[in-house]
Amino acid sequence: MNKRLVSGIQPSGSLHLGNYLGAIKQWVELQSDYDSIYFVADYHALSAKTDPVEYQQQVLETLAMIIALGVDPKNAKLFIQSQIPEHAELSWLLSSYVSIGQLNRMTQYKEKSNRQGQNAALLTYPILMAADVLIYDAEVVPVGDDQVQHLELTREIARAVNNHLGQVFVEPKPLLGHSSRIMSLQDPQIKMSKSVAGSAIGLLDDEATVIRTIKRAVTDSDPNSPKISPAIKNLFDILSGVSDQATVSKFEKLRVNGSLRYSELKEALVEELLAFLRPVQKTFHALIKEESNLLKIVELGTEQVRPIAIAKLREVKKALGLL
Ligand code: TYM
Repeated sequence: MNKRLVSGIQPSGSLHLGNYLGAIKQWVELQSDYDSIYFVADYHALSAKTDPVEYQQQVLETLAMIIALGVDPKNAKLFIQSQIPEHAELSWLLSSYVSIGQLNRMTQYKEKSNRQGQNAALLTYPILMAADVLIYDAEVVPVGDDQVQHLELTREIARAVNNHLGQVFVEPKPLLGHSSRIMSLQDPQIKMSKSVAGSAIGLLDDEATVIRTIKRAVTDSDPNSPKISPAIKNLFDILSGVSDQATVSKFEKLRVNGSLRYSELKEALVEELLAFLRPVQKTFHALIKEESNLLKIVELGTEQVRPIAIAKLREVKKALGLL
């Protein structure tokens, strides 16, 4: 039996290149080597209080995009979080093993609560994320760098439960890819996200938008500096995520011998990005038209996965002394 791998993504707006390079690219690469379980974390993004009709569409689009990017439901089990209610039930059971201090320390909570207000779901969110992972005895969790702190907390929760009740949970490890931290194209000190204009390349962006966003991406004033700046490193990270090694090496050589022109790097980047995005968008548009197909895929995933969640929850309840 292969080791188990679990990961999820929030359906908050359309996905961007950071989501792909930081997480879904790894999901695709690893899907056949592990017993892979992937899901759309629709309970998680409820704290943003999106319009319900729009939200339903976002969940379906996220699902379609995961498949368009290469996750194959024949290799991986795919489902929607809210369709397996055991996650939320386990989350409640875990909450006795977490302190408010631990939750308050989460960087993402601090950032998001500054923007969205101090919603209790934002605070307790990492407990649900721990439940998502622990309920399947996942050994590895492929994520971007910004989720590592949440996974550390997941491990602390698993340890606290195991100390109290004996060996109930596996301690999962985060798995980071080569591009675990794709930065904003406007400010290389903050991560790429859809919430800042010009920061991200959306996976559904049209050609004109991709060209405009890359053209406006910040660089630095010295292409010949021996030390690579964060903005240029980010452009190289993106290039190596979507193109072949020969192209990256070509530009790397130019950079090292001091003859790199940023306009040429950006032109190549646009070309490679469009070559990557075109087939993905085509598959996405075909998939999103067939809503019933998408629902069938998650129905099958749920059937495969839910018995594991039910059994684990039963084990935990028994360990806790619940009748
Ligand atoms: P979310 O939906 O914010 O992001 C999905 C995945 O994309 C990665 N990511 C990035 N990677 C590199 N550079 C970036 N700029 C960038 N932006 C996003 C994230 O690290 C993530 O891997 N809490 C999770 C969803 C979740 C989850 C889980 C993940 C819920 N339950 C259980 C793993 C296991 C989240 O909000 O990711």
